[in-house]
Amino acid sequence: MDATIYNVNMETLTDRQTSPLQGQRILLGISGGIAAYKTVDLARKLAQAGTQVRCVLTEGATHFVSATALQAVTGVAVRHSLWDEAAEAAMSHIELARWADTLLIAPATADVMARLAHGMANDLLTTLVLATQAKICIAPAMNGQMWRHAATQANLGLLQQRGIEVLMPESGSLACGEVDTGRMPEPASIVDWLAGLAVPPLWQGKKVLITAGPTVEDIDPVRFIANRSSGKMGYALAQAAREMGAEVCLISGPTQLTPPTGVTFVAVRSAREMFDAVQAHFVGTDLMLAAAAVADYRVEQIAEQKLKKQGEQSLTLTLVQNPDIVAWAAAQPNRGKVIAFAAETENLITHAQAKLQRKGVDAVLANSVADGAGFDQAQNQLFLVSTQGVHEFPLTHKSYLAQQVLSHLASTYS
Ligand code: PMT
Repeated sequence: MDATIYNVNMETLTDRQTSPLQGQRILLGISGGIAAYKTVDLARKLAQAGTQVRCVLTEGATHFVSATALQAVTGVAVRHSLWDEAAEAAMSHIELARWADTLLIAPATADVMARLAHGMANDLLTTLVLATQAKICIAPAMNGQMWRHAATQANLGLLQQRGIEVLMPESGSLACGEVDTGRMPEPASIVDWLAGLAVPPLWQGKKVLITAGPTVEDIDPVRFIANRSSGKMGYALAQAAREMGAEVCLISGPTQLTPPTGVTFVAVRSAREMFDAVQAHFVGTDLMLAAAAVADYRVEQIAEQKLKKQGEQSLTLTLVQNPDIVAWAAAQPNRGKVIAFAAETENLITHAQAKLQRKGVDAVLANSVADGAGFDQAQNQLFLVSTQGVHEFPLTHKSYLAQQVLSHLASTYS
């Protein structure tokens, strides 16, 4: 790919001279998980983004991170007790709660999430959560089994319903030695995410329709054709659009994800079901983002019974083409903007330009899916390809990438 022919924008939000976080007062609550060791770097990066940072440790966190190190990078003494008379005299916990613009808890352990969900105030951090009017943001991190536990998921739902912003944990190798979901995103991604939350409600009053995840095409009652899409990109776009004030409809193939709160969620399985749902919800859409990895083909005839091996060396399945959903949307009269995705393993921009023409869409968001990129990853890199040229969104966490894409589209299209 020849970068010189594209209008490539390499900046990231936190690289900007003026971050949207500039001047914000951030209370960084740190609870007792191994990811707490990353918070010295997190505090440093927040300070570099122009914020004032004060840190509060739970009792558990003191076992994982040094208050001295946090004080060194923030320049302010770290608080960890409600009963520290000298600290209370300098700034009471109520004043501290009022001081903050944002209360970020990173890492948020299962225990802290449970205590927040139940409105407990049995240490300084949970007391501050109840006493503050600041925006509350949490970055959960824990063992994968603890994360999936029904109690943790119920607590998560409660916290989201109350307007707490959640940066979902990533998959990867955990301190317990397992490879699972539960890892706190890297400090740079957390700062990017917070910066994105500070973005104004650019899609207020607009209707945004998003397709996400894979489609699943059945062969017989037990077998199917699918692909590697996890839904993360589409769900991140849905969450970001909702946070920016849009009325969001998320139409998704089967995934392991919890849909963002506050969106109309339509679960589908096959491409034809996704097509029906898009047709049913398309009217009045201002922006459609087709992030779903839709199967181009389905088997002509789904077998009613499980196919039996009958000694043949090969089996031939006859596949027929599925409807092209995004091309249908682009062909509708008086429509809003329609943006397709392109997942390519080679010649990314050239193939995306061909899709732009073939599907009749306003733009294509192209991503490489070569060598394990794109699909089921926490991070992604996108190129917005239109007749105006190519705009790069550099590699970052999908949550933050989604915010960047929607901010850019708001300035271009709304
Ligand atoms: O879900 P994740 O794990 O987070 O991964 C994200 C992603 C890689 C799936 C996503 O970023 C992405 O690229 N989605 C589109 C994948 C894809 O199917 O690309 P495509 O080049 O095959 O299709 C082009 C476009 O046409 C897509 O917008 C697709 O939704 C749409 N399409 C395709 C076929 C069809 N029958 N109907 C469609 O609408």
